[in-house]
Amino acid sequence: MGKDVIIACDFSSAAKTFEFLDRFTGRKPFVKIGMELFYAEGPAIVKEIKKRGHKIFLDLKLHDIPNTVKKAMSVLSNLDVDLCNLHAGGTVRMMEAALEGLTREDGTRPLLIAVTQLTSTDQESMENDLLIKEPIDKVVMHYAANAKKAGLDGVVCSPLEAGKVHDICGKEFITVTPGVRFADGDVGDQKRVMTPAEAKKIGSDYIVVGRPITAAEDPVAAYERCVAEFCD
Ligand code: C5P
Repeated sequence: MGKDVIIACDFSSAAKTFEFLDRFTGRKPFVKIGMELFYAEGPAIVKEIKKRGHKIFLDLKLHDIPNTVKKAMSVLSNLDVDLCNLHAGGTVRMMEAALEGLTREDGTRPLLIAVTQLTSTDQESMENDLLIKEPIDKVVMHYAANAKKAGLDGVVCSPLEAGKVHDICGKEFITVTPGVRFADGDVGDQKRVMTPAEAKKIGSDYIVVGRPITAAEDPVAAYERCVAEFCD
């Protein structure tokens, strides 16, 4: 599994996204397209970024009945994204259906990873709102194991959970971790953060980095710094 830095392109329009991506004249970064940009610009934005030579993580976090997710995944597969995701809370059956939908006629498919519990969910909201009474760590690991059982390729998780996910689901099971900050940078609204070097040490396979790159004075230099700390 090759380690890579994924830039979260949390922009509100295609114009802003391309103004940002145009700066990268050398290495083409792996980019994450989330709900905001996808809902604003539709599938065209995915095709255009792909055409420019970037790998794409389409972060739409699907969660619906198995048949609906299966059909939606087959549309995403036709968009030729490299990585996409869903909520493990949709059950093993939904994840299996998603994989079926994602698999193309020639047997190839994008990688598929699961969100376990969102990092915005804490023990209290999980117990009170979702009526899940187990410790959150146990729930996260159980959902990761479910994703593995369904045949998925990995999970999105906090860098602090990546080591344990690998212990339980194996080294090949991909961990994609947001919440990354430079040692000398702003933490912003992220609560539990790690530097790219720490995320590497703990065994993250991909780090997702947004504002430390997108809001930097020199985004290309910030990206190169992430790559140097995490990949090299
Ligand atoms: O700007 P920043 O580096 O905080 O961006 C992190 C990206 O990862 C954002 O797109 C955010 O939505 C996403 N993300 C996250 N925490 C999760 C799941 C996704 O920060 N648990």
